[in-house]
Amino acid sequence: MSKSKLPQVIAVVGGQWGDEGKGKIVDYLAQDADLVIRAQGGDNAGHTVVNKFGKFGLALLPAGIFNPKTLNIIGPGVALNLASLLEEIEKLQSLGISAKNLIVSPKAHLTFKYHQTLDGLQEQAKGKNKIGTTGHGIGPTYMDKAGRIGLRVEQLNNPKQLLANLEPILRAKAKLLPTKPGPEFKIDYYSELIKKAFKLIQPLVENTEEVIYKHLNKGSTIVIEGAHGVLLDIDHGTYPKVTASSPLVSGLLTGSGIPPRYLTKAIGVFKAYQTRVGEGGMPTEMPREMGQVLRDRAHEYGTRTGRPRRIGYFDGVAARYSDILNGFTDIAITRVDNLTHFGNLKIAKKYLLNGKLINYFPTDERDLLNVKADYNKADHYAGWTEDLSTIRSFHDFPKNVQKYCLGIMENFHDARLSFVGVGAERDALVVL
Ligand code: IMP
Ligand code: MG
Repeated sequence: MSKSKLPQVIAVVGGQWGDEGKGKIVDYLAQDADLVIRAQGGDNAGHTVVNKFGKFGLALLPAGIFNPKTLNIIGPGVALNLASLLEEIEKLQSLGISAKNLIVSPKAHLTFKYHQTLDGLQEQAKGKNKIGTTGHGIGPTYMDKAGRIGLRVEQLNNPKQLLANLEPILRAKAKLLPTKPGPEFKIDYYSELIKKAFKLIQPLVENTEEVIYKHLNKGSTIVIEGAHGVLLDIDHGTYPKVTASSPLVSGLLTGSGIPPRYLTKAIGVFKAYQTRVGEGGMPTEMPREMGQVLRDRAHEYGTRTGRPRRIGYFDGVAARYSDILNGFTDIAITRVDNLTHFGNLKIAKKYLLNGKLINYFPTDERDLLNVKADYNKADHYAGWTEDLSTIRSFHDFPKNVQKYCLGIMENFHDARLSFVGVGAERDALVVL
């Protein structure tokens, strides 16, 4: 590595159950980034970005796509649905934003329509144990990857061969179906798509590790954009109600192919309260009507699925667990403005499990479903009514906002508070 200028490698991770506002933080950081990389997950992610071009719910495109000087990478760890990517690129193009600053790793695995069908069927078969999958076929894509039968972006350079390789896979999958296979289990279903992808995506395919290596040598600033959230991690999350990839800092390094020694910042993005879509335990969940106030004001509905998100008080026990796994250097607290007028707040520091107080996050689902947050006097915080949207300095926040943010920070071992989000737009951000 050249000694002249050291590279900056910044991982941006969702610290909770996803939807923390990573898109906004990445969009902000991308203004000065040379590279923005998506490393894991697929179009089950939804990253909302609001900037001068408009409002976008990005699914596969890295949030650096709006900065023409930033090179965006879809990395080896991503599950890539060609139809979604084409649709997303076309949508941006129709608004005059080019996707010329995008490259795609040949190692990314392809998600097809049949994966989505299988996702739905597997979920149905789980009955009352359903996960609440977004249904985008991401689980089945990673199943094929782990099963060593997946098809990767590299095959796009020979569409005929790709289709020939897909055919026996479709046949084998169709045999497993309880009902008559739909058209997505026939090869014809994919001919047009592959033709189009050959024309529009194949030219973007490039060995991303070489590109990244050159940038590390040049001392570039690299942002790795996490998808989903730490508690949805396949290994460390609330298994089995998790996604199929690793949204941890370590997962982002693996998924992008960056050597861990170059990591300079691990930013944990935390919403000022707790949300979860899909099934599973949620110790700080609020009663439904109470959550509804926040759900409507903050529009807490899934970016990709439109499902209402479950709402809870900030879960400090889960935040501490997230910090233990990621070693955050920096924290972004988002959506603090949404809590204005909410009334008094609480931060959970302990759970009650079978009559015992615990301060750790149970990873056994049976325990997680049984715990309830237990609050004592010090865990209550006075609310505020002031409009925060124009505040740009931490010291200008009302005292109660400052106290609440510092209360959230108590759950982290050695991280500094670096961002506080006060609105959806790019500049509605307090940078510390
Ligand atoms: P899947 O990854 O689509 O199979 O969904 C598995 C679980 O993760 C479900 O509970 C989803 O709601 C949740 N999930 C997946 N992606 C996201 C996300 O980006 N934000 C929030 N939840 C997600
Ligand atoms: Mg989202």
